Order: sequence, then C-alpha cells, then structure tokens
Amino acid sequence: MTAPAPTGSCPHLDLHPGPGLHQRLAAFREHAPVVQVTLHGRVPAWLLTRAADVERALTDPRLASDDRWLHSAPGQDEGRSSVKVSLMGLDGAEHTRLRHILARPFTPRNIESFRPRVQALTDELVDRIERQPTADLIQDLALPLPLHVICDILGIPPDDRDPVHQLTRRILAPESDPQAREDTRDRLRDYLGTHSRHHVVTGIGAHHGDLTTSELTDAGLLLLMAGHETTTALIGSILRTLLERPAHYQALTHDPSLIPRAVDEISRLHGPVALGVTRYSTVDLTISGTRIPAGQRVLLSLGAADRDPARWTDPDRPDLARRSRARVLAFGQGPHYCLGAGLARMEAQIALATLTRRVPHLALAEHMGTLEQPGIFHGPARLPVRLHATPQPTLPTTESQMADFR
Ligand code: HEM
Repeated sequence: MTAPAPTGSCPHLDLHPGPGLHQRLAAFREHAPVVQVTLHGRVPAWLLTRAADVERALTDPRLASDDRWLHSAPGQDEGRSSVKVSLMGLDGAEHTRLRHILARPFTPRNIESFRPRVQALTDELVDRIERQPTADLIQDLALPLPLHVICDILGIPPDDRDPVHQLTRRILAPESDPQAREDTRDRLRDYLGTHSRHHVVTGIGAHHGDLTTSELTDAGLLLLMAGHETTTALIGSILRTLLERPAHYQALTHDPSLIPRAVDEISRLHGPVALGVTRYSTVDLTISGTRIPAGQRVLLSLGAADRDPARWTDPDRPDLARRSRARVLAFGQGPHYCLGAGLARMEAQIALATLTRRVPHLALAEHMGTLEQPGIFHGPARLPVRLHATPQPTLPTTESQMADFR
C-alpha cells in the first residue's frame, strides 16, 4: 500500500501516530519534506522528514526546546508543557548546567554497574515466561523490565510500580485532556518528591546541592517518563521484527555476537520516538527552501530521518549485517541527546540475549498486522507468542550467510 503523496502547497495535513506511520512519513519525505501538518487532528506544526534537515535542526540553536518561544494561535497551546519537564524544555546555559549534573548516573561506568540488576530482573521474568506455553512479551517482559529498572533507580517500592506506570501512561497519552494531564503530572511529582528524592540525590552525588528542590523532583519525573515506555516500545519492536522473520531470531540464538547490531538496526527502523522531537523557531528561518516564521512548533521526525534513502541503502529492510557510517537518530543528537541511551540499549540487549539463549524456539502466536500502539511511542501493544514452537530448518550463523539470506 502506498500512502497518498502530500504536497508542499497543502496548508494542513493530518499526521497521527499508529499503523502506517512510516508510509505516511515516507510520502512527506519524498514530496513535502518541510510542510505544515496537524498533529492529533488539532495541533499545528511544521514537519521535517529528511535526514539532513533533521540532523541539522537538532543542533541548530535557532530551534529551541523551551515552549515559551511558541506564539499563541488556535491549537498551539495544546500539548504545551505536557511532557516537557526538566532538561527537555531548557536551552543554552540553563540546559548545560542541569544536564551536567543529571548526566552523572548515566556515565558508561555507572550504566555498566546496573548490568547485574538488569540481568537478574530479566532472568526472573524469563523464569516465569518459560513455565507457560504462551506469553505476551509486552506484558511479561518488555513492559516490566524497564519499569522495574527505572523504579529501582528512583527507589519506587514494588507495590507502587503499577499505579506509577498507570499515571505516566495517562500523562503521555496524546488523547488525554490537557488539564487532566497537568493534574496527573502534579500528583506524580508530589509522589516522587517524597519517595525518590533520596535516590536521585544519591545518583547525582556531590553535585546534588547545586539543584533546587523543585529541580530534583523534576529530574525524577523526567527519568520516570523518559525511561520506561520508550524502552518498552523498543524491546517490543525488536522482538516483533525478529519473530516476524524467524530465521533472524534463530540466527541470534546461534550467534549472540550479532545482538548489539540487531538492537541498533531495529532502533533505526522502529525508533519509539518515530514521530519526532519538538522544537520552537526563535526567529524566521528557511529550511530546504521553505520559510518557517518565528514562534512555530517544529517537529523533527527521527523515524523518517532514520529511513531516508538518501542516507540508508534499502532503508525499510531490517539488515542485521548492515555496515554504515551514517548515524542513527533514534536517540536524538546534539545537546539533548538521550541521557539513557546506553541504559536502554543495555536493557534491550540483555532481554534479547536472555530470550534467544533460554527460549530458542519462540514463535509469534498471531499475525501482527494490527498490533501497533496508538500512543506517543511507536511499538507493538501486544506480542503474543508460543514458547515451544517447532524448530526451524538449518539456519545461517555467520555474517556472510546472513547477507545471503537477507
Ligand atoms: C529506547 C529507549 C529510548 C529512546 C528511543 C529515547 C529517546 C530519546 C530522545 C529522542 C531524546 C531527545 C529529546 C530531544 O531532543 O528533545 C531523549 C532525551 C532524553 N532521554 Fe531518552 N530515550 C530512551 C530511553 C531513555 C531512558 C532509559 C532514560 C533514562 C533512564 C532516558 C532519559 C532521557 C533524558 C533525561 C533525556 C533528556 C536529555 C536532554 O534534554 O538533555 N531515555 N531520549
């Protein structure tokens, strides 16, 4: 199915996440790479879809993360401040100061120190999965793993984790009423101010004294919101992509050294922030020949950029042996590059390594066509599997064999 070709002259085009998103983004990238669209049927934004434009925009100081630059207009106020907390809504020196402090728990060394805990959590979840004939890998693995990891980091006790998860989901859901979203955010903020302060302070170490109480609480909220549903969507998409091509899954059971590259390749193809990250034009600017006035919302589509044929050969195909110098943008780039990228990758790699080792004969129990999650993050809503499926015939294990059967 080919999405209808949008045109640059059309003032407003609808764009909503969910099934077929990549086809719609591809049509924009080809025919109208800088264009005005309407998000969720009501919020106007400029959409950038070409890798070169998106990459440049991510480091362009004329495009701010702070929504105070947004001029008021019908629909524009929706979504203002709803998800942007702490670092994500700051620019320049203010952002650099806070990021420098909050980056401390996420140095490669500190992330590595989470490894035993991530492995133990994964083993517990797979122990449970292994005892069943069928499972839903979203509910049974992709969701609880990142939720427990981030809750461990934030000191959220086990009994509170499900309610905390429900609250974050309510804040992130694009269809939520803006006021209800703000109220839920305040409730969660109050909760974290009491329960997580000590853990955030410990993680940040000596520099925590440089933060105000409110900055500390917002940091907890940011980590909670940024740190689990994104990773759930990624792990879900990775498993889905591999199980839809059983020989790929089998190849990883034979050669686990392929796992890090599989995670990176599927992050490119199915980055959870496919629709993109938002910026605000601080001045009038021209991108690829199109003028964007000051005060507008600009959406940089990471998903469209990561499948741009100008940058990637055969971009819509999962290629576990892909070798390219091009940079994957799924975790952003520039000053706001994802602080948790290393942690998310590690969780995905451990989940995949553990499953392929312990449950080599895993198979999808349903055709996946309609299982996209119509939320803010792009990934399957369910992943029903059979655990002891009939083994596949002889499978490729080396890179050249992989290349042969792609
Ligand atoms: C697959 C999982 C994830 C994806 C795809 C992802 C993606 C992103 C992206 C695209 C940004 C850039 C936002 C922007 O430019 O405005 C970002 C920022 C951020 N992410 Fe992630 N993220 C993931 C997991 C995590 C995790 C596990 C954590 C923490 C535990 C985390 C913490 C953050 C923080 C704190 C920022 C803000 C950085 C800043 O504004 O300076 N993320 N993430």
